[in-house]
Amino acid sequence: MSRLGRFLALGDFEAAAKRHLPRPVFGYVSGASEEGRSFHSNRTILNEYGFVTRVLRDMPTRSQQVELFGKTYASAFGIAPMGINALSAYRGDLVLARAAMEAGIVSVMSSASLIALEEVGRQCPGTWFQAYLPAEDARIDAMLDRIEGAGFEVLMITVDVPVPANRENNVRAGFTAPLRPSARLAWQGLSRPRWLWGTFLRTLLFHGVPHFENTHPVRGASLISSKAVRDLASRERFSWSHIDRIRQRWRGRLVIKGVLHVDDALQAQALGVDAVILSNHGGRQLDGAVPALAVLEQVVAAVGSQYPILVDGGFRRGTDILKALSLGARMVLVGRPFNYAAAVAGEDGVRHAISLLKAEIDRDLALLGVASCAALGPQNLVRMSQGHEN
Ligand SMILES: Cc1cc2nc3c(=O)[nH]c(=O)nc-3n(C[C@H](O)[C@H](O)[C@H](O)COP(=O)(O)O)c2cc1C
Repeated sequence: MSRLGRFLALGDFEAAAKRHLPRPVFGYVSGASEEGRSFHSNRTILNEYGFVTRVLRDMPTRSQQVELFGKTYASAFGIAPMGINALSAYRGDLVLARAAMEAGIVSVMSSASLIALEEVGRQCPGTWFQAYLPAEDARIDAMLDRIEGAGFEVLMITVDVPVPANRENNVRAGFTAPLRPSARLAWQGLSRPRWLWGTFLRTLLFHGVPHFENTHPVRGASLISSKAVRDLASRERFSWSHIDRIRQRWRGRLVIKGVLHVDDALQAQALGVDAVILSNHGGRQLDGAVPALAVLEQVVAAVGSQYPILVDGGFRRGTDILKALSLGARMVLVGRPFNYAAAVAGEDGVRHAISLLKAEIDRDLALLGVASCAALGPQNLVRMSQGHEN
């Protein structure tokens, strides 16, 4: 573990990933849409809440376990779905899913991924699958069959991408999908030899040119093919009636990701969706969309405390996670830091990142004077100020 000893907190992986990854790839992972308003407000809203500690509680151990969907997870955080993980880290989706499985935490595989979902399903049972679905019943059915056939029990449908966001920052960083070979891209690769050999060429050598494996019922286009433009057209027409129909058909747990309005959370609950993730997609979709924390209490009050509400966006510290749990979230998903950890140090890196966050949560519970994540509530916080940037 000594090689990882310099990573003291999740934030430390970002600087290392910036040095390790070619600029276009780092730009794709770190980036947000337009002005980055949602991206920044995900962090600044956390400063509005402060803890009110309790003392002298005689608490030799703390528990951060969380019950969800009849399972006990080892901690209250999980790994958010991220597309194209296998471009920043060798076998990225597998690396993340394996480390999470070993640690007993949730991880979600993105459908915009470059490794076949069957392989992750086989090697890492218990991983959740995230899908972007088109508004076409036949294609939805075929995709559901494929996901179920691969053994996934939890399906997460992301609903905040009816059209692609304005990712002008990707263009500025030189990232395009499909990846267009160019002198600039070649230079970026050559200037990052560890990534070039350890991730890119190693992938080409052992697995061939990466393809979008899971956006369709059958294998999709290669990363460099002009057909790789993600097929988003019919997603604009995706609606609650599709969710209703999917709910009738999908036998496993169903989760919707990318909700911010209380009425949408209520509608999901009414249709039999098993959980909702409040999210502004890490600030990568509608710029200016509120952070999950801004609506969390209102949503929990409406759906009731038994109904699982998850959140994501900007959570980096144990204290960040305890704030969300105190306001009623069941679990918190964390995205970019795990991608960076996988990029710079593979599975060991992700394991280390998980252990850092778990250690923070344990220490923070002790300092806060609360014995378990499940016992957290609004009594542990005060709101100190209002008016985050939005
Ligand atoms: C590189 C990257 C790719 C992403 N791809 C997806 C995706 O394919 N599907 C999805 O639902 N969300 C995707 N997201 C959003 C994450 O699931 C999550 O909402 C967000 O990253 C949380 O914010 P954080 O990175 O600040 O923790 C992606 C995020 C990043 C950073």
